[in-house]
Amino acid sequence: MSLQQRHLLGLEGYPAEDIQTIIDTAFTFREVLDRPIKKVPSLQGQTIVNLFFENSTRTRISFELAQKRLSADTVNFSASTSSLKKGESFKDTVQNIEAMKIDACVMRHPTPGAPLRLTEYVDAVVINAGDGTHEHPTQAILDMTSLHEKFGYLKGLKVGIIGDISHSRVALSNIHGLITMGADVTLCGPATLIPPHIEELGVKINYNLDEVMEWADALNVLRIQMERMGVSLFPSVREYRSLFGITTERLAKHKKEIVIMHPGPMNRGVEIESAVADGDQAIILDQVLNGVASRMAILYLLLGGKAES
Ligand code: NCD
Repeated sequence: MSLQQRHLLGLEGYPAEDIQTIIDTAFTFREVLDRPIKKVPSLQGQTIVNLFFENSTRTRISFELAQKRLSADTVNFSASTSSLKKGESFKDTVQNIEAMKIDACVMRHPTPGAPLRLTEYVDAVVINAGDGTHEHPTQAILDMTSLHEKFGYLKGLKVGIIGDISHSRVALSNIHGLITMGADVTLCGPATLIPPHIEELGVKINYNLDEVMEWADALNVLRIQMERMGVSLFPSVREYRSLFGITTERLAKHKKEIVIMHPGPMNRGVEIESAVADGDQAIILDQVLNGVASRMAILYLLLGGKAES
């Protein structure tokens, strides 16, 4: 069992059978995470460097835990405390790290395409942990694993992606992945936060949240990425909340069983009301656990680990 591509840079053009293999393998690792001793020797002797050029909480911890659960050796690099601050180039930094003999790099970077560039500089396997507004493939895979766990299928599943689509790498990777897996995707948010021509990727757009909720099996609710906006692209947080916020009141008007997802970090009271985030319909913390299992699957499949015991 292995994947067709050597690196995981994005889900655009990524083969459906490989996405399915990762999801199936993630379920196997979910069982490991439920054991009293949550560790297998699959990646013993492999060294993985986590290169974080941008802030992260859960993605970084999730990757690190996944590596430790697979018995890999891990090293963490943080741009804010590195020699980049002394003027060293990106190329020199990563080539020096690779000279210390590593097998894989997990990279988060504010510039779209940085992980692709990294593949030109190093021989190690490269996994994109989020590159600017471009892609965040492991997040989309954990989202799909969570949907698969909840519904048992992805083909024909109706998924609404709500909010700031323009600045969201989570949205783009989810769109590519879900469309590849045969799901139906509708985007909903302020017109200023939905990129023109995005329908060409095979999605629908509906600016009316209530209509989308009436239709959807699941909603993936996104954070407004204020830090990526030069100017405010909607009039006020209050208006955003009233048009696009997921509230208990709104949920009560619709089908009872809509599943609510959020990649985190959440802005409670803006895109999602606290009671919804903590409510029965939310699978937000399942996503976090599936994140560890999905990243274990990705690392295991890309690094060719031996069968786990
Ligand atoms: C997202 C990210 O960093 O792209 N978070 C995550 O990885 N779980 C989404 C966000 O920042 O809103």
